[in-house]
Amino acid sequence: MQDERTATLEQIGAAFRQTRPPEPEADMPARPTLVDIFNLRLNTPKFGLPIAAAVHCTQCAAQALQAGMDEETVLACLLHDVGLAVCRPDHGWWGAQLVEPYVSEKVSWAIRYHQALRYFPDESVGYEYPQMYVKMFGEDYRPPEYIAAAHEYARNHKWYMHSRNITLFDDYSFEKNPTWSVEPFTDIVGRHFRQPKEGLGNDASATSHMWRTLIDPSKPL
Ligand SMILES: [Fe+2]
Ligand SMILES: [Fe+2]
Repeated sequence: MQDERTATLEQIGAAFRQTRPPEPEADMPARPTLVDIFNLRLNTPKFGLPIAAAVHCTQCAAQALQAGMDEETVLACLLHDVGLAVCRPDHGWWGAQLVEPYVSEKVSWAIRYHQALRYFPDESVGYEYPQMYVKMFGEDYRPPEYIAAAHEYARNHKWYMHSRNITLFDDYSFEKNPTWSVEPFTDIVGRHFRQPKEGLGNDASATSHMWRTLIDPSKPL
């Protein structure tokens, strides 16, 4: 009986080992910074998405910078879709949670609600329902109740425009093969992102495990 159990556990262990993809991720420095994460992990599309998070997010931040937005808005644009590199569903919530220990409450708030605001036009600021969503979800799509509720809440919040601004630049940030760089934003990151000295994933923040997952998504456990 004991032998059978040991054999089963060994079989499962061997199967776990095989789930590791043959191509390892690029080496990460011992103390990863946000810039390392952009350059080495967000630089390729994940989960079947057509565009890499870094390619899209740097375009969004560049639009915000060009429009003369404040630094926290530029940072929120730069980070708005990092959640998509951890988990595709509810990426606004995942992304906001991921960065929450390192940015101001306003920045993580804007990231969390941009996902819901994307579904709701606001003519007063020139935001239209995205054509991309018509293609993705169909003509008569209505977002689920929790998205509608999140929109309603955000719409009446004092930081509404901070999140809405992300959506204004989002739709214009899908050029597929631009030359992109985090370089233009490193000063802003330096001023508004509390980079842990131990490196992301190595500090004891509430979301270190999420950074570790992003750094090595194929760890067996
Ligand atoms: Fe998004
Ligand atoms: Fe986006």
